[in-house]
Amino acid sequence: MPAMPEAPIYLDHAATTPLRPEVLEAMLPYLQERFGNPSSAHATGRAARAALDDARERLARAMGAEAREIVFTSGGTESINLALKGAAWAGKARGHRIVTSAIEHHAVGHTVRYLEKFGFEVVELPVDRYGRVDPDDVEAAVTPKTILVSVMLANNEVGTVEPIAEIGRRVRAHKGVLFHTDAVQAAPYLDLDVATLGVDLLSLAAHKFEGPKGVGALYIRHGIQVLPQQQGGSQERFRRAGTENVAGIVGMARAYELSCRERRSTVARLRRLRDRLRNAVAAVDGVEATGHPTERLPGLVSVIVRGVDGSAVATALDLDGLACSTGSACLAGSDEVSHVLSAMGYPDDEARGAVRLSLGRATTEAEIERATELVPAAIEMQRRAAGALAADPLGASPAAAQLP
Ligand SMILES: Cc1ncc(COP(=O)(O)O)c(C=O)c1O
Repeated sequence: MPAMPEAPIYLDHAATTPLRPEVLEAMLPYLQERFGNPSSAHATGRAARAALDDARERLARAMGAEAREIVFTSGGTESINLALKGAAWAGKARGHRIVTSAIEHHAVGHTVRYLEKFGFEVVELPVDRYGRVDPDDVEAAVTPKTILVSVMLANNEVGTVEPIAEIGRRVRAHKGVLFHTDAVQAAPYLDLDVATLGVDLLSLAAHKFEGPKGVGALYIRHGIQVLPQQQGGSQERFRRAGTENVAGIVGMARAYELSCRERRSTVARLRRLRDRLRNAVAAVDGVEATGHPTERLPGLVSVIVRGVDGSAVATALDLDGLACSTGSACLAGSDEVSHVLSAMGYPDDEARGAVRLSLGRATTEAEIERATELVPAAIEMQRRAAGALAADPLGASPAAAQLP
């Protein structure tokens, strides 16, 4: 029998994470014998309803929220769309100004741009070299016409953690202004206690914390009005029509509970592994670590490799059996330069050298040990190829350098 190819070293957990076996186990009954529709009145439906209620209760408790404050969705993007559009339309009579940051995920950035077409005014706050939003800037941007502020908890490309509790404090001083945070990347690593964060709306996606894809949640503080963005049935207290993904929701609640339970030890271990990898990669000539040096996600290493295309490095590493990315998974395959790195002050030619290595709970010491060899080697190889190309444009190419 031919030998099984070795499993790749997976360092792209910011894109998605594998489903945890315990989570799959919790989900399976609701894909099989307990398949009921939670809106059905019969026993099969009631069993699904009980699972849905239980999952809502568990997820809410883990975030310091009430069960009625949780709306289940199809993922991070839908949660964010519901939060932003729903709050914007509900607040239109009070004002039209929305304040956000220059480094948000496109799920936020493109949604507020869409809202601009309907007369909303969007203010995009700058960030510093490390990708941090200044709470003073938030305060200065909030006017009597402001209805909503949205700043992410942790950035998906460079891992910077934003001062959300402080921003929340400033926003709360302005009556009637809602505060949303995109906690999609932060979820497995940071405490999402909604009172501590001071948020009114918070978005989550299960697949970033070893839950299933296609399921997410939106926290909506009790008493806040958010207009539904899809019409249909009365599910989710009229806030999100459509039959709930019961198995996915059960899986998300289980995955989140497990990640909370293990957070301290996971964070401590990942920080150590991350620093080892970052030090090895940043030691290569012309490599700069990006994002905040300390206020950052525990498992995310982001660098800029000068003079080299980040996608060429990622492709070379893929051939070596290491999965990583250049930044946001949503930019993969496009020529678009990262708006995050641009906002942080990196010129386009430098931003093109971005490489992101994101670790996860199951990442091992041995994998990081191997990555500390593979990544610098791939960078050196691409740099030599880029140098050869510059010296002899017809004789060499970075693509050729990727061949065995
Ligand atoms: C920070 C952030 N927000 C939102 C999203 C969108 O989540 P989803 O793709 O699950 O809809 C992502 C996904 O990568 C993300 O990283």
